[in-house]
Amino acid sequence: MTRAFPSDFLFGAATAAYQIEGAAFEDGRTASIWDAFAREPGAVVGGDNGDVACDHYHRYPQDVALMKDLGLQTYRFSTSWSRVRPDGGAVNRAGVDFYSRLVDELLEADILPWLTLYHWDLPQALQESGGWTNRDVVDRFLDYAGTVHDALGDRVNVWTTLNEPWCSSFLSYTGGEHAPGHTSIAEGLLASHHLLLAHGATVKELRGRDSSLNLGITLNHTVADPADPQNPADVDAARRLDGQFNRWFLDPIYRGSYPADVVEDIRAVDPEAVARFEAAVHDGDLETIAQPIDTQGVNYYHGDLVSGTAPATTATAEEGGPATSRPTRSPYPSSDGIHAVERGLPRTAQHWEVQPEGLTRLLQRVWAEYAEPAGVVLYVTENGAAYDDEPVVEDGETRVHDADRTEFLRLHLDAVLDAVEGGVDVRGYFYWSLFDNFEWAWGYDKRFGIVRVDYDTQERALKDSAHEYRRIIAARELAP
Ligand code: NOJ
Repeated sequence: MTRAFPSDFLFGAATAAYQIEGAAFEDGRTASIWDAFAREPGAVVGGDNGDVACDHYHRYPQDVALMKDLGLQTYRFSTSWSRVRPDGGAVNRAGVDFYSRLVDELLEADILPWLTLYHWDLPQALQESGGWTNRDVVDRFLDYAGTVHDALGDRVNVWTTLNEPWCSSFLSYTGGEHAPGHTSIAEGLLASHHLLLAHGATVKELRGRDSSLNLGITLNHTVADPADPQNPADVDAARRLDGQFNRWFLDPIYRGSYPADVVEDIRAVDPEAVARFEAAVHDGDLETIAQPIDTQGVNYYHGDLVSGTAPATTATAEEGGPATSRPTRSPYPSSDGIHAVERGLPRTAQHWEVQPEGLTRLLQRVWAEYAEPAGVVLYVTENGAAYDDEPVVEDGETRVHDADRTEFLRLHLDAVLDAVEGGVDVRGYFYWSLFDNFEWAWGYDKRFGIVRVDYDTQERALKDSAHEYRRIIAARELAP
């Protein structure tokens, strides 16, 4: 059956500054935490870093032409704090100008710019005074956001404060897998609070400047299912995973409170960390965090089937992380008794499960419990898969017959349509990612793009998935 997309549904693709720009130390940009972390031995697979990446900083006109060729209606990108305000300090005009040129290029190509202010690249100088664990970072972020808005507010309407704050707090300050690579429960909690505070304060500031802006945040979610819904230990494992991954961010943003059950779970593990966190939550903070937003971005890659007891053949819920050699720990402060259960689903090159129906259920849940009551519209701001692509040269052209990614894309668009038809107001989908790029701790080893990047020549080549996405966008329907 052919299924049509609503006429106002937006098709896009997403990237992030550090993952594609390169030009890491050009035109006044200074180090971010990712420049520093990538240089630590064993932090990133292959010792890779974002110094050159996809060289998008120099190639953005061709890259925008490619987006136009694909028929993208919108492009989600992030600005680099270290380019705009190096070291978190004074404004760097050359850095601001790059984004101004990029936005002009997008508008010229009739592509809606979808701007994210923070996609994980905190200036390293700010990390040296505690980074996101230091409340002062909130004011620095406001300065930075204000500068970007001063420069682009006349042309950019959609503003996302943060991308995936779970990653930039718990995965980074508690799990140690992402920059700055710390393994402290207290730091993860403090970082999450200051990130959320920066989000709320920025929404308030930008709303005050221009009430016509479309303001929001992008969260990463999982769908946590108990292995045996009749088994209380499994149900509790799913509750805890959902609490630490989803509700820790959804509840303060939409309801102005942290989930009490999660606070108590963490207190049982590390009472001192929770005491520090509680002292960091000042009067009025939760009101600031719960500023009304217009849009929530939903990032979905896979769900988790979990058990409360460790079956002999399973690993922990974090199975599938990159094989790096720095010390890491669970990013879940209260991780005891959360065990991943194998359910025989196909997996991507990162061993992430392919579970499209999870996306439908996720959208239904976020919509019913949070977004609809708050009048917030949903967009899938990321969804995609890494596969071990094998490029071939045919008729002198590089081709990638990525049937697995093409199928992944189609299955997830179908899942979005299931949600739309079930009454969820989800108005767009961004494939992650437009290009193969720097996949954080996995380096360049994992390729998510619908466009292949040859890192030796910087040549771009459309994979079969890109051709399929172009057909879907042009027809605005999913054909069998
Ligand atoms: C989420 C992040 O926002 C993005 O930067 C990352 O590359 C993808 N997921 C894939 O892991």
